Amino acid sequence: MEFFLDTADVEVIREFKETGLINGITTNPSLVAKSGKDFKKILKEISKMIKGPISAEVTAIECKGMIAEAKILSKISKNIVIKLPLTEEGLKACKILSSKKIKTNVTLCFSAAQALIAAKCGATYISPFVGRLDDIGENGMNLIREIKAIYSNYKNIKTKILVASVRTVDHVIESGMIGADVVTLPPATLEKLYKHPLTDKGLKAFLDDWKKTKQKIL
Ligand code: E4P
Repeated sequence: MEFFLDTADVEVIREFKETGLINGITTNPSLVAKSGKDFKKILKEISKMIKGPISAEVTAIECKGMIAEAKILSKISKNIVIKLPLTEEGLKACKILSSKKIKTNVTLCFSAAQALIAAKCGATYISPFVGRLDDIGENGMNLIREIKAIYSNYKNIKTKILVASVRTVDHVIESGMIGADVVTLPPATLEKLYKHPLTDKGLKAFLDDWKKTKQKIL
């Protein structure tokens, strides 16, 4: 399973790149607003650091405008993936861009039916938002199970499941158990993956015992 980092903060990406765990990046207009920086400059800087897919979202709401924006965004770097909303216009744009071999990430997916039609339109990635479904009392991971079951029935579906709106370590574990292709992680959630109280406790005990030996490795 691949790990993408869900942020538009270039410094955070620089820091997390060091872990060697980051296969790609996802951004969205809210994350760009939070960074307070110019979108195109952000994308240029990220593409200097990250060779894997970088999702950049269009902001037009009609197909024609989406295609025009996609052309500009695609020119920034060859690893830019065009992020499109799961609307009728977004899916029209998806079909056109996929026919031109431009990679797409269809976002704001909240149902298996939406995921099925995105795949039929040739989406490279589908982004189901698990956390936002949990927020309204539904089970976000059930959606991932449904999409995986549907996609697995058809060999011609190449769309990858990119689990988005990830909030917890359990979301990541379940994504792996279901066989999702990618999870996009907010930096704070990625950090949580390292943590286990027994690791901290065990390390402390080992180091305390080591001190008693008065030995040194270096
Ligand atoms: C990623 O592509 C999405 O934009 C992101 O995961 C949304 O997460 P949120 O629901 O925490 O805003």
